[in-house]
Amino acid sequence: MERRKFLMLFGVGTVASYLPVAIAACSSLLKPDAASAQSNFLVVGTVADLDNAGQILKDTEIGTIAVVRSPDNPQNLAAVDPTCTHNGCTTSWDSSSQSYNCPCHGAKFDAYGNGISGPSRKPLRTYDATIQGNSVLVRRS
Ligand code: FES
Repeated sequence: MERRKFLMLFGVGTVASYLPVAIAACSSLLKPDAASAQSNFLVVGTVADLDNAGQILKDTEIGTIAVVRSPDNPQNLAAVDPTCTHNGCTTSWDSSSQSYNCPCHGAKFDAYGNGISGPSRKPLRTYDATIQGNSVLVRRS
């Protein structure tokens, strides 16, 4: 076998043997955050966003999500869809009363979406929320 042909075959063989390893290494870089992908959590903001504004309010592919620190334990989070279950108006978080207040007919809900007063008979939809590193993550309950 000629030297040139040997070197070419050796080079092709070497590249072919390392190709699967290289593909595997690159594909892991293209995957979304492993923790959020495995558990269907969405990143809705940062802890700094939450603490600076007192709330994160974000439109996502699974709906509008409002996140606040849990009034019972600020280490935990409470997340709801702020859409009022009476007639669909958007409630807003009032940090002084610790409630979501509806501007349309006066319904009030606590941080966990439970009705406090007003015409609504159903609680707000809730989400699971957690902190991972500096990110606030939410998923459907
Ligand atoms: S739509 Fe919210 S109280 Fe009626």
